[in-house]
Amino acid sequence: MTETSVLLIGGGAREHAIGQALVESGAELSVIMKNKNPGLARLATNVHVGSEKAPSLAVDKANAWDIDIAISGPEAPIASGVTDALAQAGIRVASPTQKAGRIETDKAWMRRVMKKHDVPGGIKSRHFTHAQGLRSYIEELGDVAVKPIGLTGGKGVKVTGEHLDHTEDALDYATEILTSGYGGGEVVIEEKLVGEEFTVQCFTDGDTVTPTPPIQDHKRAFEGDEGPNTGGMGSYSGPDATLPFLTTEDHQEAIRIVEGLVNALAKEGHRYVGPIYGQFMLTADGPKVIEVNARFGDPEAMNTIPLLETSFTRIVDALTRQRLHTVDMTFNTDATVVKYVVPRGYGTNPSENVTVHVNEDAIHDTGARLYYPSCNPTEGGVTTTTSRTLAVVGTGDTIADANEQAEAALEHIQSDEIYIRHDIGTDDLVTQRIAHMRALGRDPTNA
Ligand code: AMP
Ligand code: GLY
Repeated sequence: MTETSVLLIGGGAREHAIGQALVESGAELSVIMKNKNPGLARLATNVHVGSEKAPSLAVDKANAWDIDIAISGPEAPIASGVTDALAQAGIRVASPTQKAGRIETDKAWMRRVMKKHDVPGGIKSRHFTHAQGLRSYIEELGDVAVKPIGLTGGKGVKVTGEHLDHTEDALDYATEILTSGYGGGEVVIEEKLVGEEFTVQCFTDGDTVTPTPPIQDHKRAFEGDEGPNTGGMGSYSGPDATLPFLTTEDHQEAIRIVEGLVNALAKEGHRYVGPIYGQFMLTADGPKVIEVNARFGDPEAMNTIPLLETSFTRIVDALTRQRLHTVDMTFNTDATVVKYVVPRGYGTNPSENVTVHVNEDAIHDTGARLYYPSCNPTEGGVTTTTSRTLAVVGTGDTIADANEQAEAALEHIQSDEIYIRHDIGTDDLVTQRIAHMRALGRDPTNA
């Protein structure tokens, strides 16, 4: 059999994990990325450093490189029509079309589709294109989440009691979105959910939905869940596809919700193909949908992909042929802990152009994995940009073992100007999560 030629769009740490899994499962890898990712550059046969959002460029490269299958790591290429253009050019695409991807790019539409098709996990939510009625709705709900309707890199949402002190703050922020045009210039006001967040990612070809292990991400910049929201500072998954605060029943409910979403999209005439990401709040009333993403999560892809025992190339091939039902997908039963190394000040005012020393061989000897985001490689390390610098993944029989391996790897990454949330995956934080759910009346005794 000839090698499958796969085009990956995107150059972050998530894409490094995807690219590695493709190459390890026999694909010939080509990448379009806006900055040179040193990890991907080593793995790929063809690399183009340039726009990830240019449909005609992607088609030209796909033709020149004789691509069979394309997959997008981030959401932006989907939103800008790259996946549609590739499909029109006859390339098989293992990511959603722009219309199906609207599930991520239009938060108001996502809520409408859920409601129309009775997908469980819905919450009180209203979409505003102007200020009329805004105040009374915010007052009616009390504590709220205020969200720009579109993409903001995970940083646009503000919640009362966390980033907003009271109703007036919520109203001010919503008005600012409407007047400034930020994140699409329209606003969604939602009831504030209280509980523990978790992520359920699935592969789907539009019919079959195959779940991957549940994960908890940490959005806040600083230890103890303090500070601004970020793209994600790290994440963990428990052994045997569990999370310590999540019951099997609640996990199954979340999977049913993702299945419901995929079915709802099909009924809307937008068959969804690719990875789909459900972000949930486990509340006193069970799992509720916070957001849906048209891709794998970053960092969550780095928890998932190292556990995957099935060929990633086979999975993307099956996705594009509507044959996912023929793939018996299996995962290693290990726990995982991902920690991002970020420049000091990340989330507010990150230090730039700082050299970080990385001993790849020593990291490799710990058994941990190292993934590069888009960064600037230098001799013996990398130079920081304003975004995340490096990611390490530890695996082990327990979350504590996985954490120990991740921490051992982090010892070989040296700089005074970096910050790491060392609390992610520690017994202390995990115990707090369980206690939080108990306090809300959901005892995860079977987790
Ligand atoms: P999103 O970009 O929609 O994932 O939101 C970013 C973060 O804001 C989430 O990870 C939650 O921590 C928080 N958030 C979003 N929506 C809500 C909500 N309805 N209630 C409470 N927190 C929320
Ligand atoms: N981990 C959050 C995201 O990928 O959107």
